[in-house]
Amino acid sequence: MDSDYFFTGQESLEETNKLLPRELDFHWFPRLDSTNALAQAEPWPQGAVIAADSQDRGRGRLGRIWQSPPGLNLYFSLVYYPTLPRHHWGGFSLATGVATAAVLQPFVPGLGLKWPNDLVSGGKLGGILLEASGDKLVAGVGINVNQQSFPPELNATSLKLCTARNWRRDRLLASLARGILGSLNSWDQGRFEEVINDWRKLDIVLGKAVTATRGGEVIQGRALDVGPGGELLVEDEVGVLHALHSGEVTLRVKA
Ligand code: BTN
Repeated sequence: MDSDYFFTGQESLEETNKLLPRELDFHWFPRLDSTNALAQAEPWPQGAVIAADSQDRGRGRLGRIWQSPPGLNLYFSLVYYPTLPRHHWGGFSLATGVATAAVLQPFVPGLGLKWPNDLVSGGKLGGILLEASGDKLVAGVGINVNQQSFPPELNATSLKLCTARNWRRDRLLASLARGILGSLNSWDQGRFEEVINDWRKLDIVLGKAVTATRGGEVIQGRALDVGPGGELLVEDEVGVLHALHSGEVTLRVKA
């Protein structure tokens, strides 16, 4: 099974639906503005997976662009209609990260998660962008798969660079979509501790000295834990506890 992820020259991304269970409804596009934008724009059913080979305006966090060249990486969005009340929705982001990491961890040495939702192994291997509108949640996932060079300012890496293998994007996408749906269901069914505990095991900032930025505010302190809503708890240098629901953290001393 493991070697199924590696390239055999027969990747068929557009036929990923053949690898998916019935709860997932796969829609593939050669080129889109953004899979998240299309997932938001139309009334897709529960479990719709919108994937593209390339994106012209891939959305990153904090209004950034997610560079999305063709033929190399994975860009997809999963549509989910939670039953939980809105104040619990923050945790769906942790659930997506944990499920993504679980698929990749057996192959990627030192894989971790960096709050709020970066997949890292040395550099940034992937990113997750959750967007909500009305009763719909869109979990957008970008993974650097077979790309081998990146602009240095991105501090990015890829599965190819981490493992020295070419990856089959169709099989990887099928495993990720299945895992993410299962993890979203776990959170939606109230299995909060399970998801948060899995997150704690992977988070590379917990217990470390960090600089956190939230809007224009800069907090220097120690990342203590993630709270029940997925917020990062940072104790600053005078002992005040801050709960971050958005923003970014950097390690002050590189691990
Ligand atoms: C981040 O900034 O780390 C989050 C990046 C999320 C990128 C993915 S690619 C697929 C999906 N569609 C988008 O437009 N963005 C997300």
